[in-house]
Formats: sequence, C-alpha cells, structure tokens
Amino acid sequence: MSSLLVDNIGELVTNSEGGAGPLGLRRDAALLVEDGLVAWIGPARDAPAADRRIDAEGAAVLPGFVDSHAHLVFAGDRAAEFAARMAGEPYTGGGIRTTVGATRAASDDELRATVRRLRGEALRQGTTTIEIKSGYGLTVADEARSLRIAAEVSEETTFLGAHVVPAEYADRPDDYVGLVCGPMLAAAAPYARWVDVFCERGAFDVDHARAILACGQAVGLGVRVHANQLGPGPGVRLGVELGAASVDHCTHLTDADVDALASTRIDCMCAEGRHTATVATLLPGAEFSTRSPYPDARRLLDAGVTVALATDCNPGSSYTSSMPFCIALAVREMRMTPAEAVWAATAGGARALRRDDVGRLRPGARADLMILDAPSHLHLAYRPGVPLIRQVLHNGVPQ
Ligand code: NIG
Ligand code: FE
Repeated sequence: MSSLLVDNIGELVTNSEGGAGPLGLRRDAALLVEDGLVAWIGPARDAPAADRRIDAEGAAVLPGFVDSHAHLVFAGDRAAEFAARMAGEPYTGGGIRTTVGATRAASDDELRATVRRLRGEALRQGTTTIEIKSGYGLTVADEARSLRIAAEVSEETTFLGAHVVPAEYADRPDDYVGLVCGPMLAAAAPYARWVDVFCERGAFDVDHARAILACGQAVGLGVRVHANQLGPGPGVRLGVELGAASVDHCTHLTDADVDALASTRIDCMCAEGRHTATVATLLPGAEFSTRSPYPDARRLLDAGVTVALATDCNPGSSYTSSMPFCIALAVREMRMTPAEAVWAATAGGARALRRDDVGRLRPGARADLMILDAPSHLHLAYRPGVPLIRQVLHNGVPQ
C-alpha cells in the first residue's frame, strides 16, 4: 500500500467536523492519502511519514468540485445562437432540437471524443465528480448509446430522454412519453443512475413529467428535475413530491416552492448513508449565457434549503465546464458568500448526488482534492477568470 502526504497546507477546506466554520477550515494542515482514500488529516507538525510527498507551499487545498449537472454527450455547437441572444434574441430551449440532429448524425467515436474532452477540461479546473445526462439523442438507440458513452467516464449518469419532444413526435407527445417510459427507459436504465425531466412550458407538462419520473423510479433510478428555469411552474413541487435528490435551475420560485424545499431539509446522514433533503441546484452559467435574471440563492439559504452549484455544461444555454466561474457568478450575482458558494460547489453537489464519499475531506473519503495557486478559498470568487487550480488529485492520483 503506497502512501502520499500533502503537506504544508496553508488552509484546508474539509467541509467536515473538527475544523472551523461551515467549511471546516484547518490551518497549517497535512493530509495523508492511502489506497485512493484520505487516511489522516491533522496539523502539519504531526504529519506521519509517507512514501511520497507533495508540498502545497502554504496554499489552499479543497475537496474536488462535484458538478452535479452537465450535458456532455452532444455533437456540434450553437455559437451562432449564442451570438444572436447577445444581440437580443430570447432563449426558449428551441435550439435543443438543433443539437439533437447533430448528435444523431455523429458516430460513437465523435461523441466519445467530446465527452472526454469536456471531462478533461472540467478535471483540470478541479472537478473530480461530474454528473452526465443524455437528452440529445431522443431515440431508443441514441439515448442508450449516449448513456453508455457517459458511463465510460462517470458513475453519475442520468437518463434525460424527456428533454424535449423530438420533431417527429411533435403532434403526438403522449406517444413520445410512452416511448420514453417503455423501450427507451429499458434500453437506457442499465447505464443510468438517475432519471430527469425538463418540466417546463414547451417541454413536458407536470402529468407527463410525473409519469416519466415514476417509471424511472420503478426501475430503481433516483429522481432529479429541470424545474422552474424559464418561468414559474410545478417542477419544483413535483420534485419534492417524488423525493427528488435535486431540483435544478430554480430560477422562478414562488413562496410555496421555497416552503416545499425547506420542508425537506431535515437531512438524514445516518449510518446507511441515506439522505432525504431535496437540494436546490443553481446553474448560474445558464443565466449568464442566456442573459436572464439569476436565481435568488439568498432566499433559499435563508429558508434553510440545501443549495448546490453546478455548471449545466451544454452547447445551448451554458457552454462552460468551469466550477470556479460558477462560484464567482454566485457570489457576485446571487448574494452567496464565498464560503457558501464553495460549500455548494463541493459538499452541496455531493448532497445533490446523495453521496457522502466526495465533496468533503475526512478519513475514509475519496482523496479527490485540488491545490490552489492561492492562499485561501476566497480567491476563487475574488480572482474571477484566473486559472487558480495548480494541481488536482483524483482517487489519490495526481492528474
Ligand atoms: O439545462 N433546460 C434544458 N436543458 C438545458 C439546455 C439545453 C440546450 O439548450 O441545449 C439546460 O439549460
Ligand atoms: Fe440542464
């Protein structure tokens, strides 16, 4: 068993007990990795001997980011659509069908290359866990292959056959819902951990969304929902009703939506690792790239709702893989403190995926972490756009 000591850590974000404040901060710390897991954390002066050593040189060390919402399996891009939006066009989600056409026409190897490129891009920016959705295939074969390719690089895969109704089913959405719940789910489920629906005017109404999510649950998939992105609607409350791990976007919320989320907040972190809270996952890259008002994170936090931050990386509404960018937006535009944003991008993302082995650093957790080119986590928001991730360890292995 080989061991690795990360030593001379100026500020260690643990998100765990034993440290100060909500981030569980420790100063002048060291961390020992054995077999891909954190084996020990303590004062640098008490550090045990190890086979190898990384000197953090007084920098900040954080858990790897947990990006709990990304759409990486697609072909082509929509840069022209972005340019049109910046010239005043609204975002409607209508461009999803453009990407569906390109994705269906692409070979497996082309899709695989894009997924791996974006996965690598995210990893270099500190993301060690990333959820990947299907949703640009929308046929039985294309959804199954999207998830098969996603599962090659992530264990957090999500079946989003209900992204939009594809053009060939435009005038018979009930038939499409039947396809999604029947043969498409059967083909996709072996490669998926989660089921998701875009519950929004112009995509799936609440009855269709409930039916699809219930079918997914019946075959053992966990629930997540694209909810309340483009306007108010029933998506958030549907997610709470079904015990969703996360409702995502949450841009247009009523008091009833916030109350429903807050009612789930007694979150069980018991021995079996069960969690019951429905997390509100905010995706500020989407508001940035669609020039829309940002969700009100402060309102959710003040109500006691668990908040996560994720990129929503996709070619239409948010073509960024950068969690540091999302942290900076959340602090500047959504009234989150830097500590709240860093927690939401690490431990919050882990809650949204119902994981307790990532997003925090404590003995037994995965040794997924990053060393910053900065003395404190504050710099992630304070120095926007600057590449501050010096080194990433994934499963204890320097990348
Ligand atoms: O999360 N809202 C639905 N789906 C994506 C956008 C997909 C696209 O525009 O291609 C999202 O923003
Ligand atoms: Fe999304």
